[in-house]
Amino acid sequence: MQQIRPGIDLPIHQIADHPFDFAALFPGLTRIECEVGFCSAIFLTEYANRNPRTGILGIEKKHAYFLRGLHNLERKLKQDNVKAVEFDARPLIEMLIPPASLDILHIYFPDPWPKKRHISKRMLNRDNFRMFHEKLKPGGRLSFATDHPGYAEFIDAELPFVVDLYTRLPYGRADREVMTKWERKQTDKGIPINYYLLEKKGLP
Ligand SMILES: C[S@@+](CC[C@H](N)C(=O)[O-])C[C@H]1O[C@@H](n2cnc3c(N)ncnc32)[C@H](O)[C@@H]1O
Repeated sequence: MQQIRPGIDLPIHQIADHPFDFAALFPGLTRIECEVGFCSAIFLTEYANRNPRTGILGIEKKHAYFLRGLHNLERKLKQDNVKAVEFDARPLIEMLIPPASLDILHIYFPDPWPKKRHISKRMLNRDNFRMFHEKLKPGGRLSFATDHPGYAEFIDAELPFVVDLYTRLPYGRADREVMTKWERKQTDKGIPINYYLLEKKGLP
């Protein structure tokens, strides 16, 4: 069984040698979700407080944002249902999240990488959609959003490649119970946001 130290922060060097044991990480919680790029953890903290029976793994790669988010979580989280890791989410999810273990993977406003030569760095691409699919439980969901029109166009062109893996469900601003910091800011400015909710298809 994985040895988990108390507290929210999971230092990568202490966890990198085994896949996550979510039963040990979140004792008694069977619903498991993950948020990529939590930044100041405005969404993560409020969402976790509204869903106290859900264990949530937050992943943030930028040190300054990670510290800011951790500070917010440490001050405002009302129960012990969040763990936070400072690392690049793609390899972390691929290597450490066991197959069929997540109920929801949240990715809100991933870096848009607008320059043509950087497009391969975009997280929401067909290869990662396949990798995320493997990590979701049957019927698990991938929830994401972007306000960058070029990224939305890119996603719309990638989704047909994974149509065998996911069903796209209707989802929009009216369905959002909790907003991220960036989402609130852009919504207040009237900037359109593209929301996506994909459900993992069962076996054919
Ligand atoms: C535009 S910000 C959005 C922040 C937050 N999700 C929100 O909506 O307010 C993108 C965030 O994703 C983080 N990020 C980008 N690529 C990442 C990766 N590969 N792994 C983990 N975090 C990442 C960035 O550091 C940043 O905090």
